[in-house]
Amino acid sequence: MRIFLDTANIDEIKRAARLGVISGVTTNPTLMAKETGIGFEEAVREICSIVDGPVSAEVTSLEAEGMIREAMQIATWAPNVAIKIPITETGLQATKKLSQEGVKTNLTLCFSANQALLAALAGATFVSPFVGRLDDVGHDGMEVVADIVDIYSRYGIETRVIAASIRHPLHVIAAAKVGAHIATVPYKVLLQMIQHPLTDVGVKKFLEDWARFNERR
Ligand code: G3P
Repeated sequence: MRIFLDTANIDEIKRAARLGVISGVTTNPTLMAKETGIGFEEAVREICSIVDGPVSAEVTSLEAEGMIREAMQIATWAPNVAIKIPITETGLQATKKLSQEGVKTNLTLCFSANQALLAALAGATFVSPFVGRLDDVGHDGMEVVADIVDIYSRYGIETRVIAASIRHPLHVIAAAKVGAHIATVPYKVLLQMIQHPLTDVGVKKFLEDWARFNERR
């Protein structure tokens, strides 16, 4: 399973990229709104230059024509950009057209296997089921991810499943176990995945013992 970073924060993306474990970035209008002093185009261009893999940037038009217009514009900013589109009637129409034009898409705000099936049939490159937001309303978000993975694999569908709205490290393990192709994680969750108290204790003990060993020589 690949890991994408779910943020529009350039500093976080640079730090995560240095770890060598990130193969893409996802953003959305909420994440963009948290970043001040940088415009949408500038941010997308910069993020695309930091990571080699796909960088999702979301359209905000509600009509298919507007979505397509925005998407075609964003797609000129970098070769590794993927257009994030909500799964709605107009979103599916736009996705079909964009897939025919060879533009990568990430169908977002996915909350059911039915929506994911339609996203794939429209030619989506990625689909993003929102695990945490489903959990928030008492549904099992990871079960939806598992259903989508099963359906896609049964029919050889090439749309990649991004487990999104990831809230903690256990979500990442669960996403990997059900076969999600990608989990997109906030920077905080990425750091939590690295940390283990026994690693810290172990490093400290090794250094203490190494110092004692060198004192004896
Ligand atoms: O990128 C979309 C998704 O990951 C948002 O997550 O935490 O706002 O539900 P969240």
